[in-house]
Amino acid sequence: MAAYDRELEVARQAAIEAGALIKAAWNEPRQVDEKSSAADLVTETDKKCEGAIKKILVDAFPTYTFIGEEETAALGRVPELTDAPSWLVDPVDGTTSFVHRFPFCCVSIALAVERKVVAGIVYNPVLDELYEATAGGGARLNGEKILCSDASTLASSIFITELGSRRDEEFLDACFARMRSIAAATRGFRSCGSCALNLCSVASGRADGYYEIGLGGPWDMAAGALILEEAGGKVSDPAGGPLNIMSRRVLGTNGRLHAKFVDILKQGPLAKDEPAP
Ligand code: IPD
Repeated sequence: MAAYDRELEVARQAAIEAGALIKAAWNEPRQVDEKSSAADLVTETDKKCEGAIKKILVDAFPTYTFIGEEETAALGRVPELTDAPSWLVDPVDGTTSFVHRFPFCCVSIALAVERKVVAGIVYNPVLDELYEATAGGGARLNGEKILCSDASTLASSIFITELGSRRDEEFLDACFARMRSIAAATRGFRSCGSCALNLCSVASGRADGYYEIGLGGPWDMAAGALILEEAGGKVSDPAGGPLNIMSRRVLGTNGRLHAKFVDILKQGPLAKDEPAP
């Protein structure tokens, strides 16, 4: 068995179990609560899924740290990521999509060791698409190896970004100014409401790049970032420096277009209170 295969197997089992809960709830009425804003939601399903995932992971690896999005929200602060093996779990990434039955939400589970992501699973139970990777072991979608696109010009690329959960004027102005610069150079934008699935869309060649500044937390990007790198892509801070998974900032591309997107994004603008590089 290669390194972290056992962890990947258990994470896959946890993602499939949580995915079954999402599927079972799909046509049922939702009980929705707001977190930081009216665009930052949590449902009973998020909490149920996180509980089911935690039980499976902790039973199998009792000494590993567990950092889950909903436990963290209840705690009111993100725990520090240490060198210890740590699970980073988003039980439903794309909660707003889930609430609206827009079929792009997923379970995202990553394992970080010495603060580096070494295994990741992203499972969209609605479309039955399971992405996975271990460091050095390549990336797969439903068992088949995946690779990024080979687009080499911005003019032949499509790009993904998200609005996130802020809706104040200053943020919207900065966010749309960045989008305007990218729109001027590319074929256009897509947005599905899930950071993890956005990274996997770039990993599987369905889009050429994705960036977000101010995303929810490390659980949104950790698994997808590894899957994208293992599919031959590049992941960094949007200003070009190394990715910090605790920073709430990410740029992931097919690799060939990376420097070109950095050139645009490092010009900003950045609103007050947006996470800086
Ligand atoms: C959100 C999604 C969304 C991103 C937000 C995240 P959640 O995660 O990843 O795409 O724009 O910043 O918070 O709340 O659905 O787990």
